[in-house]
Amino acid sequence: MIQAFYNIKSLIQVETHPVERVCGADMAKINTIEEAFLIVKDKLIAGFGKMKDYQKTMQQYENEEEIREYDLMGRMVSPSYCDSHTHLVYAGSREIEYIDKIRGLSYEEIAKRGGGILNSAKRLHEASEEELVEAAWNRLEEIKWMGTGAVEIKSGYGLYPEQELKMLRVIRKLQEISPLTIRATFLAAHAIPLEYRGRQAEYVDMMINETLPMVAAEELADYIDVFCDKGFFTVEDTERLLMAGMKYGLRPKIHANELDFSGGVQAGVKYNALSVDHLEYIGDDEIACLLDSETMPTILPGAAFFLGMPLSPARKMMDAGLPVALSSDYNPGSSPSGNMQFVASLGCIRYKMLPEEVINATTINTAYAMGVQDELGSIAKGKRANFFITEPIPTYQFMPYAYGHNKVESVVLNGEVQ
Ligand code: NIG
Ligand code: FE
Repeated sequence: MIQAFYNIKSLIQVETHPVERVCGADMAKINTIEEAFLIVKDKLIAGFGKMKDYQKTMQQYENEEEIREYDLMGRMVSPSYCDSHTHLVYAGSREIEYIDKIRGLSYEEIAKRGGGILNSAKRLHEASEEELVEAAWNRLEEIKWMGTGAVEIKSGYGLYPEQELKMLRVIRKLQEISPLTIRATFLAAHAIPLEYRGRQAEYVDMMINETLPMVAAEELADYIDVFCDKGFFTVEDTERLLMAGMKYGLRPKIHANELDFSGGVQAGVKYNALSVDHLEYIGDDEIACLLDSETMPTILPGAAFFLGMPLSPARKMMDAGLPVALSSDYNPGSSPSGNMQFVASLGCIRYKMLPEEVINATTINTAYAMGVQDELGSIAKGKRANFFITEPIPTYQFMPYAYGHNKVESVVLNGEVQ
């Protein structure tokens, strides 16, 4: 089947020579086609061009059995956002801790009292797989209508072997039923259960010797993650877990340097992590280490915004030649929103990124950070037809400027109009 979308005011983030990721000064450039058309053949992008060439291009499809044309009447088309870091499988919410935070308690203080991740773990233990699937499905539908077409989802609220497997099976179910592209990460060390306090090495042993082999046997995860930070897991714990995961073919994607200069970035790069995420604490050493790597530095502006944390030095990283990705971190504790349009606005407003830089940071670079850059993340021939159509807007820069509005009017995923 041929689907032809025409009268597109701007076709955003077009690649004629697709790249894996965009780095440094190149992040300020995107390619757009004004007054454009876009052709989809059998769920894949087959062509694009300027409206003046539309009729001529369509002649080559004359003999196709089914042709559907869509007049977009001056709307814009953008590749769907890829959100390469979320924890969107969870039970309940944590607005009571939010009030504690307003009153002055820190994220770490709440965690020490048995709140935070342990609170979500308790609720997850009480929830059935069906309940978790339903709640996460609703979140996926919500982010779909805000422009997200691919999402990475982590386990990590299970904390114990069976509960971690439960979370990963929920993610597997979501992969089967959702039109979004989903990658699963086994978050092997997220918080230490109270009964393991003071016995951290034993806890890590349990995750390595009991949980990991079961995760691998059921092929439930694409990646492995560790929360390598002050008050959570050390570099030594992290390295043990990453080494064990890599034996099963799980590439690391890690939580690093959110609360301190934790050594997490260096540990991630050492084990060729696909991404290191959060990065509130980044100095020259971390930048130098990342420059020499294939690891995508990923900032989570929603978490820094919600917790009032220092801002990651995005400008400095890009000026040094690094790529930067921006993801939502959608979770009940530090970022209860998966709105990538808002993430893009925060990128511009708080991190001083240009609209073009946030487009690269939320599409192709996040596609790289979840390993789907060959199929998603830009409008390029042969990539999957995952894109959104905006409301009538004056410029693409209007998207991050008009923060808090949903400018997505319709969504196409795998060639299917949602
Ligand atoms: O990415 N930092 C660690 N983990 C999550 C928060 C999880 C939670 O508080 O529930 C994060 O921010
Ligand atoms: Fe996270």
